[in-house]
Amino acid sequence: MHSFHYRNGELYCEEVALRRATDEFGTPLYVYSAGTILDHYRRLDAALLPLDHLICYAVKANSNRAILKLLADAGAGFDIVSGGELYRVLKAGGAAAKCTFAGVGKSREEIEYALDEHVHSFNVESEAELEWIDRIAREKGLKAPIALRVNPDVDAGTHRYVSTGRSENKFGIALHHVAAVYEKAARLPNIEIRGVQMHIGSQITDAAPFAEAIAKVTPLILELKERYPLEFFSVGGGIGIVYESSFASGSRDWWSEKDRVAATMTLPLTIHDYAAAIVAPLRAIGLRVLLEPGRLLVGNAGVLLTRVRYVKQTEHKKFVIVDAGMNDLIRPALYQSYHEIVPVREPAGTERESVDVVGPVCESGDFFAQDRELPEMKEGDLAALMSAGAYGFAMASNYNSRPFPAEVLVQGERFSLIRRRQTMEDLVREEC
Ligand code: LLP
Repeated sequence: MHSFHYRNGELYCEEVALRRATDEFGTPLYVYSAGTILDHYRRLDAALLPLDHLICYAVKANSNRAILKLLADAGAGFDIVSGGELYRVLKAGGAAAKCTFAGVGKSREEIEYALDEHVHSFNVESEAELEWIDRIAREKGLKAPIALRVNPDVDAGTHRYVSTGRSENKFGIALHHVAAVYEKAARLPNIEIRGVQMHIGSQITDAAPFAEAIAKVTPLILELKERYPLEFFSVGGGIGIVYESSFASGSRDWWSEKDRVAATMTLPLTIHDYAAAIVAPLRAIGLRVLLEPGRLLVGNAGVLLTRVRYVKQTEHKKFVIVDAGMNDLIRPALYQSYHEIVPVREPAGTERESVDVVGPVCESGDFFAQDRELPEMKEGDLAALMSAGAYGFAMASNYNSRPFPAEVLVQGERFSLIRRRQTMEDLVREEC
């Protein structure tokens, strides 16, 4: 579910009319619903109750400290992939003891920082990395807690840029080789074997690949359990969300019916389906379970608000030129991703016209929609790019010397700035 709906002809997030946020903070503007994030977290947590588990939110999806704090307060751990993410989690009041440190290319400085802060564990992706972690831990007189990342060679059926569990991907250690690497790890004096980890990809909309991966890795884990004091099995993240909802396709009546909108925004792979597929096999393994969801928790909880600058009719097409660009939300350009585009003022009629919605950046790839049937959008109108809470701001850049947009968090009737808009001075601050 999400908390964006029309009320009195206006798009709201929870109890806040989005126009109020743009009046105060301008556009482009990211707005997140705290209620949606917490609802998703709690529903996943509840579905996993039969398991001893810890949800480690994948910080890369949206790393604003206000969101990390929200999740830390709710009891979440964190899946981090850099020293910067560890720093953010600690600044937000998260516990290093609940952080799992992943990534194929950890630097010496990052490993030192994570050891000094006593992270929960390192997810190790190669023998070379294992040796480095051992060496650095020895210098510090510490033991580094580790899990090896297993690559189960499962097809997650997702975009090739976000598929990670195939043998041709750079991630993890091949299933047939990993037992040998555990043997090696057991011989390294400053390594402490704690668990097994995997992650097969992102935006997975079917429970079957998750179940298949668990089934493939189970015999290995049972064998490893006999030899080492394993504590946990991390099954990674990857649960997909809905990007296409009823907002674009229905009649006006449909749009106004809050319940139906909420119903059509349920996940294609529901939390219930996901839990139903994984809980029993994971219980049989008998280890503590770690999960690393990112998109599931924050994806549908955020929108990018943008204002129409110009409308340009050419011989072939009508272009709606908005003030957000690919530097603010790169997913359509990078993965050909679909983001629903919803007018902030509820359209009076049901007429649609075919348009391209494009940004101001000097690239033809700078579009949010092509040949999409949308209600008429005029100069000055506001629109929401839906489901932009995950991998939106987190992947933003200053390309074309465009300042980062501001971010706002809504909590019931309140909304607060959680990141101010960058200024021109910010753009050149680090240059010398
Ligand atoms: N764990 C590991 C080891 C990961 O690499 C990832 C995401 C996650 C957990 C969280 O996956 P999620 O639950 O969010 O699917 N920028 C792309 C997605 C890249 C995902 C990278 N790894 C996008 O916008 O679709």
